[in-house]
This record gives sequence, C-alpha cells and structure tokens, in this order.
Amino acid sequence: MNATLQRPKGTQDIVPPQSTAWLHLLDTLSTTLLQAGYAYAATPIFEATALFERGVGDSTDIVNKEMYSFVKEERSLTLRPEGTAGLVRAYIENGLHRAPKPVKLFYHGPMFRYERPQEGRQRQFHQLGAEVLGSDSPAVDAELIALALDALTSLGLQETLTLELNTVGDAADRPRFVEAFSALVQPQLPQLCADCNRRFTQNPLRMLDCKVPTCHSYYQSEAVEAFLTQFEWSPEATEHFDTLTELLRGLNVPFTINRRMVRGLDYYTRTVFELSSNALGAQSAVCGGGRYNGLVEALGGPATPAVGWAVGLERLANLLAKTQAPPQATPVGPTYYVATGASTASVVQALRIAKALRAQQHTTVEVDLSQKPLGKQLAQASKRGAVHALLLTEEEAAKGHALLKHLATGEQHTVGLAALHTGQVTRVENP
Ligand code: HAM
Repeated sequence: MNATLQRPKGTQDIVPPQSTAWLHLLDTLSTTLLQAGYAYAATPIFEATALFERGVGDSTDIVNKEMYSFVKEERSLTLRPEGTAGLVRAYIENGLHRAPKPVKLFYHGPMFRYERPQEGRQRQFHQLGAEVLGSDSPAVDAELIALALDALTSLGLQETLTLELNTVGDAADRPRFVEAFSALVQPQLPQLCADCNRRFTQNPLRMLDCKVPTCHSYYQSEAVEAFLTQFEWSPEATEHFDTLTELLRGLNVPFTINRRMVRGLDYYTRTVFELSSNALGAQSAVCGGGRYNGLVEALGGPATPAVGWAVGLERLANLLAKTQAPPQATPVGPTYYVATGASTASVVQALRIAKALRAQQHTTVEVDLSQKPLGKQLAQASKRGAVHALLLTEEEAAKGHALLKHLATGEQHTVGLAALHTGQVTRVENP
C-alpha cells in the first residue's frame, strides 16, 4: 500500500481474529458494571478545547503537549484525551445532577494523546471508564476499586496486578503542600532536568513523575520519602484515606501505599490509585483513577464529589495475550449455515428462516448469498466452521422439507420447512 495511505503512527486496527477477544473484553467489563448498577453513557469524541484546559488542567502534559486540537467556525475543538471531563460536562448539561445520587455511569471509546508511541503507549487508544458522582463516602472509592479488580478478575487477571494508592489531599491543602514541597526541592533545581525546572514553576507535584534517571533517584531519596510520608493533609482527607484503607483490608483487596503517585491529571483530590502489572513493559498501568471532588463545580455544575477510573483497553488486551493461554485456534463458526437454491424466492426464504432461528434459538445463523451450486455452499459452510448446514434445495422445498447436515459427522436429516419459519428445527420421520 502507498505509504501515505497507511494508518497514522501510534494507532492500531482492531481486526479479526484479535477483535473477538476485544469484544469479549468490552462485554465482560460492561457486564460487571451493569450488574453493579452503572448506566452506559456516550459523549462526543471532540469537545471544546477549554473543557480540557479547565478540566484536566492547563499545566498538565496532556493539555500542554498532547492535545489534537483544531479550529472550526472559529471555535477551538480537541479530540478527547480522556473521558472524565466530557462525562462531567454531559452530567451537567443533561441535568443528571438532578437525578437521585449517587449517579453511576460508565463509558468506553477512543481517546487521543499526541505522545511518543512505544509499547503500551499510543496516540489513539481506548478506555473503558466508570464514574460515580454525588457521594463523598470512602466506601464508594472502595467499591469502585474492588469493581475494577472484579472486572479484571473475571477476565482471569488478578494474580498479575498490583494496586497502588495515595491521597493528594483536598484542594485547600494544595497551596500548603506545593509551598512545602517547593521549599524542599528548590536547592536541587540545578541538578534537575529542564522539564522539572519548568514543572517547578508551573505545577511542582508533576515533578515526582519525572523519568530522567538523576531526577528519579532524587525523588526516590529518603529526604523526599520522609517529606511525603510526614506531610499533614487536612484531617478530613486523612480520615477519608484511613477509612478507605480499612475498607479495602475488609474486602481482602491487597494494596501498597505509594506516596509519590500523583497521576497526570490535575482534577484529583484525596484518593488516587493505579492498577499495574509487571508483565507489561514501562507502560505498566492498566487502570488509573481517583477522586475529583472539585471538577463538577469547576465546569459550572453544583458542588458534587465524585470518583472514577479508566482501564486502558489495548494494555489490557496485551496483558491478556501475554498472561493467558491463546484462545482456541479454530474459530467457532455459526450454529447454522443456510445454503439456498439458485432462485430469488429461495434466498428470501433463507433470510426469513435465519431471522426466525436467531430469534427463537438465540444462536448464530449465517446465510450463503452466493447462489452457487450446493456443493460449493457446503464447502463454504465447513470453511466457516459451521456446526450444521441447512440446505434449502428447491426439490426439498417443493415437498415442504429442508435438509439439515451435521458437518462434523456428515449425518443428515429431513426437517420441516413450516417449522423452520417459526424458528423450530423439527425432524420429519420417514420423509
Ligand atoms: P489515565 O491514567 O490518564 O487516567 O488513563 C487511564 C488508563 O488509560 C491508563 O492506566 C492506561 O491504561 C490507559 N492509557 C493512558 N494513556 C495511554 C496511551 N497513550 N496509550 C495507551 N493507553 C493509555 C484517565 O484518563 C482518567 N480519566 C481516569 C479517571 C476516571 N479518573 C477518574 N475517573
């Protein structure tokens, strides 16, 4: 293919056979959330740029360096880099804040970040996220975290995942924290990288995420560790965190407290957490989230505490592929593969029967629309991996019959045509 037409760097196609595992993943995660009372929501893939500047924060890497923005009709729009800001906008704009609280929602879809692509890091990736709006109870944080683990466990993953937790305090704590942290790191600035020096003036908390080895080893030092462990958050934020850890212990959810975890989005207050796997490379976080008690109000809604997470679906699919036995090599084909006669009437009949069978038998039915000789259609049924071929020959139809062939054994029976039209497969004895 002409190189100019190839898919852009940092994107992926989701095609068979992997797309089957992808759908299974979406289905398992959605089912876990639906069973826990979450309703589905979908929001636009592009939003006003200002939504992310205000929501995610204009000193974050996401907003500073990674947004795909464009102008249409003099309005700056951006492909969403994450789902929470758009969901909160939709919550306010659709009056969901008037619904009984808490409001529990989930969503999934593509997100866009102009990052340097590497394994586990793409420019277009997919997230499935869950958000609970309208409760400040630490029990909601605990249930959400447990649900993320449940959802991932239903896919067979738990062993390889670790949960890291931290609190980043309340908004009112932030200036005090920033001031004390800045005082601690300021003498080190000449030794720290240019990015850290920029972050020092814009958003010093983000310095803790730096991957440059000299910076990283400083942030790992005992001095920084002692500062982070001893910093006193507000009594309410501390109590929230303590109750959350108590709840997680009660639920047998193992975790470690990582005082350096700050996360890449500015809306967090109190709880932040990540689930990661050491089976993945440098990009090891499969799920990230936290509490964002100020975001709804910051975007123009009523003061509403909220908490949520998002799973990165490509990373999850990759982790499943690495840690689980590969799915069965032979794809499972349709239960019934309907072969038709050459006439248009026969094709119509086949399509009607397929519809009735799907409705009544709740199973997969494919119709061969080639109108080729029956032998060719039978060969195609085998190639598709079908269990049965249903042969609607003109000759049998004239007698009110059809033939049902079990492809693995070659066994063949006559079945009633009228019954097929009602979605029943009934054998005709002594046809
Ligand atoms: P996040 O940590 O930026 O949080 O992203 C969540 C997950 O999306 C990550 O753990 C990772 O699995 C995946 N992810 C992020 N960036 C990429 C990328 N470039 N390529 C592949 N996968 C990626 C959020 O987005 C928050 N909205 C989560 C949240 C919901 N917080 C509260 N509610």
